Amino acid sequence: MSKFIVFLFIFFSAVSAFSQPENYSEKHRPQLHFSPPAHWMNDPNGMVYYKGEYHLFYQYYPDGTVWGPMHWGHAVSKDMLHWQHLPIALYPDSLGYIFSGSVVVDQNNSSGFQKGAEKPLVAMFTYHNMDGEKSGRTDFQTQGIAYSNDKGRTWKKYTQNPVIKNPGIKDFRDPKVMWHEPSKQWIVTMAVANHVRFYRSKNLKNWELAGSFGLEDGSHGGVWECPDLFQLPVKDGKSKWVLLVSVGSGAPNGGSGTQYFVGDFNGKTFTNSNASKDVLWLDYGCDNYAGITWSNAPNKRHLFLGWMSNWQYATKVPTDKWRSAMTLPRELSLQKTNNGYRVITRPAKETEQLRKTNTPVEMVTKKEYPYSMCEVTADFDLSKATTDDFGIEISNSVIETLHIGYNRTKNCFYIDRTNCKEKSFSKEFPAIHLAPRMLNNNQIKMHLYIDKSSVELFGDDGTVIMTDTFFPSEDFNKIRTFGINGEPPFTGGKLFELKSVWH
Ligand code: FRU
Repeated sequence: MSKFIVFLFIFFSAVSAFSQPENYSEKHRPQLHFSPPAHWMNDPNGMVYYKGEYHLFYQYYPDGTVWGPMHWGHAVSKDMLHWQHLPIALYPDSLGYIFSGSVVVDQNNSSGFQKGAEKPLVAMFTYHNMDGEKSGRTDFQTQGIAYSNDKGRTWKKYTQNPVIKNPGIKDFRDPKVMWHEPSKQWIVTMAVANHVRFYRSKNLKNWELAGSFGLEDGSHGGVWECPDLFQLPVKDGKSKWVLLVSVGSGAPNGGSGTQYFVGDFNGKTFTNSNASKDVLWLDYGCDNYAGITWSNAPNKRHLFLGWMSNWQYATKVPTDKWRSAMTLPRELSLQKTNNGYRVITRPAKETEQLRKTNTPVEMVTKKEYPYSMCEVTADFDLSKATTDDFGIEISNSVIETLHIGYNRTKNCFYIDRTNCKEKSFSKEFPAIHLAPRMLNNNQIKMHLYIDKSSVELFGDDGTVIMTDTFFPSEDFNKIRTFGINGEPPFTGGKLFELKSVWH
């Protein structure tokens, strides 16, 4: 072989090795959502806004497509939709793998980490020490910190890590740090087995235990993970604290899911304003886990992103070079209802940029629309219903279907993903997922975002949420309304074709 051909061979192999994983055209590859260029991803980490950039770090294993030694992958975005990948931010070291955690902007340099003009960004994460775990110890999870003086581009680990030692509890992780203005101190909320603990600090380095919450409250179907604590205004001019807690198993439709509490926080402990036995789920779908909100987001917005998978089957889903995506960015608000406080979730306004044109197609029944990625709003009037089961169907030419429906007998929204061929990778995957309605009126409202392998339902103005992934053997490319044994009581809807954020 001539040298030239050898050169061409090496050149093209190198180019394809580099570019292939990032071409985002593989089967099932999300086009509207963040997914890593290649390899395994789980929880969103360290979400922080600084100088026009939304940072997203994430649990990342760069050497395989199943969970492994955890790093923090990193990407930035100006709109939480279009992402620029950056080099891995944190690598495992002698103290352990780098598990989930958070990042804050240390506005007043309380940590003393500032060098130069930029405010220090301070990350707090869990060290998971594998040797410790294998040798049967219980104190193998500790908390460490790292800082960046260059807008998150490079990170240095603090030389005196760990900053929070383990009190002898196996599950002791996922620190979410915030500045608590009333008590003028940093608070970190951590998941500790079956409850959360709050630690406080003046400098992000020395921490003391302040209080705890949750032994008697909410769902205990699995280990508590990835908490988040933030304040949301209520209409009457007051505000309440929202505590998100992901639970490893026992979610309403199986596997892992995220519950929340609404109450008060005094710098030490959290008091639940709802009944302690009430279990409130942020999302009834099976694919929204470990979500948290952006720290320091502009205009006091509470912007949320979750991991769009489920520990029941995350390592087995039929994707090739990469595994998992994040949800679309969502904005959280709070509503006082007759049954107590409830979190309302809406797609962040930025998602309107995904629309190909600003003029929607007016949807009618009995017509099929040729879209694969789209946003749909569809309204139904129960007082006109001649069927108890109706909604939106997406399908393909090999007659696989996915139903996003409402069932009147159960008074539930549902997603039926049993009719996609690629489902045998897990016995839990093919199922009909139910979400009880919060409202009691006759107007059933659906707002959907459909991507290549996921659907997000914002039902009844954000009061009921469902996020599900699916894996059809061919892309879905048709959409229509459906009714089982009757016409859907459809009163109107709009359809926007959406464009890829990667191409
Ligand atoms: C949640 C979780 C966290 C942990 C991380 C490890 O999905 O189990 O509790 O920090 O994943 O990757």
